[in-house]
Amino acid sequence: MLQFRNLTRAYELGGERAGVFGVTLAVPKGCLAVLAGPSGSGKTTLLQLAGLLDQPDEGAVLLDGQEVSSLSERERCDLRLRRLGFVFQAFNLVPVLSALENAMLPLQLQGIAEVEARRRAAAALDRVGLADRLHHRPGQLSGGQQQRVAIARALAPDPLLVLADEPTASLDHAHGGPLMDLMADLAAERGATFLVASHDPAVIARAHRVYRLADGRLVEAA
Ligand SMILES: Nc1ncnc2c1ncn2[C@@H]1O[C@H](COP(=O)(O)OP(=O)(O)OP(=O)(O)O)[C@@H](O)[C@H]1O
Ligand SMILES: [Mg+2]
Repeated sequence: MLQFRNLTRAYELGGERAGVFGVTLAVPKGCLAVLAGPSGSGKTTLLQLAGLLDQPDEGAVLLDGQEVSSLSERERCDLRLRRLGFVFQAFNLVPVLSALENAMLPLQLQGIAEVEARRRAAAALDRVGLADRLHHRPGQLSGGQQQRVAIARALAPDPLLVLADEPTASLDHAHGGPLMDLMADLAAERGATFLVASHDPAVIARAHRVYRLADGRLVEAA
């Protein structure tokens, strides 16, 4: 369960105030939730707070009931590595590493032994339908396949929470829906919470829950 409790993060720039203001929401385990809203409405700001990459001015982020936004930098970093998964618009794969090596990286950073990391990364790649592409490098994969490697990498450490910022934006239209279907299935079978920022209608249509933002405020939750 991911909770935002009255979350505010304000940016002051040139006399203008932007950011997110007083956002409260709760996304249960197994749920694929989408943060929707126009450009500048605060989607990425909220994902960064949820991902413990940034800290709120007011309010709190809770994971499974524990307040995590006020932990020390070291504790947040540790939690990020072990229990959070990140999927980015531009995939952020390491070009000289194979799909398998990319998916192994976060496990090896945690100190998991190579044999075990290899086993878990291969299982995650198999789950996203890439069992026959383990040794391809990102440049040898299609955009949709690269995004599935990124999902396998996020999934391999068995995260509580997976965060994705515009994960379909670099894909052509046909790939967006299936990618979301995969994430919905993964959220349910892993009991993880998925939080995706997007303004893609194909993405929003497949969400279990949609939170709409406007000017940094939550204006609709459905
Ligand atoms: N580091 C920063 N300094 C100042 N203002 C910022 C900063 N980061 C974001 N903002 C402002 O906060 C608001 C929300 O930005 P955010 O990136 O969260 O929007 P978004 O909904 O993700 O937009 P997009 O759909 O274009 O990605 C915007 O008005 C933006 O200009
Ligand atoms: Mg954004």
